Amino acid sequence: MGTKFSVLLLLFILFPLALAQLKVGFYNSTCPRAESIIGQIVAKRFNTTASGCDASILIDSTNTTESEKDAGANQTVREFELIDEAKVALEKECPSTVSCADIITLATRDAVALSKGPFYAVPTGRRDGLVSNPDEVFLPGPTISVSDAINVFAAKKLTVNNMVALLGGHTVGVAHCSFFEDRLSNFQGTNAPDPTMDPALVAELKRICSGNNDPTAFLDQGTPFVLDNQFYNQTLFKRGVMQIDQRLASDKSTSGIVSGFASNNAAFRLRFAEAMVKMGSIEVLVGNNGQIRQNCRVVNQGKPLSSGNLGQGKPKKPVDQPKPKKQKSKTKRQKPKSKKNPKNGKK
Ligand code: HEM
Repeated sequence: MGTKFSVLLLLFILFPLALAQLKVGFYNSTCPRAESIIGQIVAKRFNTTASGCDASILIDSTNTTESEKDAGANQTVREFELIDEAKVALEKECPSTVSCADIITLATRDAVALSKGPFYAVPTGRRDGLVSNPDEVFLPGPTISVSDAINVFAAKKLTVNNMVALLGGHTVGVAHCSFFEDRLSNFQGTNAPDPTMDPALVAELKRICSGNNDPTAFLDQGTPFVLDNQFYNQTLFKRGVMQIDQRLASDKSTSGIVSGFASNNAAFRLRFAEAMVKMGSIEVLVGNNGQIRQNCRVVNQGKPLSSGNLGQGKPKKPVDQPKPKKQKSKTKRQKPKSKKNPKNGKK
């Protein structure tokens, strides 16, 4: 009986997985306009944002839940209203069909393209989690070593090449001074700036950071609004703003990849798109798992939608979109030094 039973058991375990894979065009029949609705909302928001560089949702495309979003580590994600807007539009178009996890992934893809980065096909069919735990949020801090970063990414089955390409996300957007100020003076107790930073950049960043309320500086000092390989070129000139970015250029396990991307934008675009798709497929809920949230900020009231719904079910009755609860968070992205920093400041 042993073998037969194990084969059956295996089939039983594997079957739902076999049926439930992410796939490009998952909503083609259940919500054909889903991707274009999201695209329009992202484009509208993008065009009305002062700098047009607001690809900040890139930072955490997999964190979909209210309490995780509220965790300190994620407080830099400023564009959650955009996700809400897309959700409301999609609930009108096809109720309880498109997951928040997919909305985030698709919106991120569109923001990348609007930043002149690559446009890539995104497999969809993710479902939303039933729990959201701020303790599970872990974002590495900017002083992480390359080898620790490699381990963090490897634990998610991402290669060193994937990691270097993904850190190319820092080709757009900003960092608060508190994330790199330790490099500007008395670096590691030396009474001097970080020697791996161009002195002209040290001076410029000191000027920016002398402002109040933890100002911000562009992560890519070359082309901060364009998702391109300039970020890597900057690090070759010692002009990486955060320590981890600069370290990529000098560590022997990543320096070759950095120079490769620096000299070949097409290769960077290809690898970035590839790595984004891969990152977006990690630890996703599919098939019968999770639910399709009706409001991205909260788990559905009452029973999760039944497994038969699989992305196409209709709720019996529309559920009100409750106001999100503010939660105190225990999780923070580790900063080099602690400082109270109200956020008000894009340049
Ligand atoms: C070792 C891994 C990483 C570390 C240590 C790291 C660290 C940081 C830090 C400290 C900031 C500044 C946050 C702030 O000041 O509010 C930041 C910003 C940013 N990161 Fe990362 N990050 C990592 C990986 C990634 C990945 C994989 C992506 C996307 C593919 C990404 C995209 C971004 C973007 C777009 C911003 C700018 C956000 C904005 O303008 O508000 N980062 N990162």
